[in-house]
Amino acid sequence: MSFKASVLTLYPDMFPGTLGQALAGKALTSGAWSLEVTQIRDFATDRHRSVDDTPAGGGAGMVLRPDILARAVDHVSPADDQRPRLLMSPRGKTLTQQMVRDLAAGPGAVIICGRFEGVDERVIEARQLTEVSIGDYVLSGGEVAAQVLLDAVIRLLPGVMGNAQSGLTESFETGLLEHPHYTRPAEWEGRTIPDVLTSGNHAKIEDWRREQSETLTKARRPDLACVTVPLTEADRSDLERLETSLWVAESRFNNTYMDAIFAADFIEFGCSGRRYKRDELLFSAGERQEIEARLPLANLHLHPLDATTVQVSYVSEVRYGEAVQRCNRSSIWSRGGKHGWQLRFHQGTPVFDAERNV
Ligand code: ADE
Repeated sequence: MSFKASVLTLYPDMFPGTLGQALAGKALTSGAWSLEVTQIRDFATDRHRSVDDTPAGGGAGMVLRPDILARAVDHVSPADDQRPRLLMSPRGKTLTQQMVRDLAAGPGAVIICGRFEGVDERVIEARQLTEVSIGDYVLSGGEVAAQVLLDAVIRLLPGVMGNAQSGLTESFETGLLEHPHYTRPAEWEGRTIPDVLTSGNHAKIEDWRREQSETLTKARRPDLACVTVPLTEADRSDLERLETSLWVAESRFNNTYMDAIFAADFIEFGCSGRRYKRDELLFSAGERQEIEARLPLANLHLHPLDATTVQVSYVSEVRYGEAVQRCNRSSIWSRGGKHGWQLRFHQGTPVFDAERNV
């Protein structure tokens, strides 16, 4: 069953408009979605086919009448319709990529395009209309807004986007703005392509792109940079493996490895209460010790803090001869570096353990 859009408007000739062209247009022809456009005025009852009236309480502009709009809505969307009923309006919740994804996963949408000063509140309540805005500015009507919403939804419908991968790295899908793009010619108007992109080193290219995305997002959209993004399964296993490597002598006393793991601003508050700087935690060759830590790490949890930072908490249990020291640990990892993540902060607080008397 393909996505069914029913649009209610006073200007049906505005549809399909942009949606009849390019990707959305092809998807319409191929049946990935369908469009039904309804003239609200067809549901007027008077001789002049009027749909609006003056606002109760006075004031400027006209208001869309509830009885007429309700008849139009009921005609295209009976009570048992599973599709959400949306009213395009600057008063609505601002459209996000998450709302777009949710809509694309559903059976379709009934979209009412507002005009005039507004729509009588009673029909919004009675027909459960969800108001949706496309941004903090006022358009002359909801038709363009409806096309924006549908365009964003249609490209996510199954079989519509050619290269599925291009959808995943795009702005907002990763919680970050997209990195810059380059193509041939290698030099244009004296401007070259960053060397890393022509190096053939895919790990380095990935690092560069993520760094660029983070820098751009922080500069242009600090509001996005602090939004948490769910971790992928790969992120989870990488972070568990990296955190565990702090408790394995082979990696913990490997200076080259730890130098790549510690971020430039790394600090540690040890279980003893002592504060360590980055350099104090890098060991010279021959300093290798044994670590008798319980693995896997107990009670390990990952808490995303923003688009690029994760807090890892767990309980460490380390044997020193006869004694066992248990500490509540928390680490902060940020994306980046040779191993995909870098440790920014690590701390331990002793757990009082009456049974073991430590
Ligand atoms: N109608 C008028 N302005 C609008 C906006 N910003 N979003 C959605 N619908 C609108």
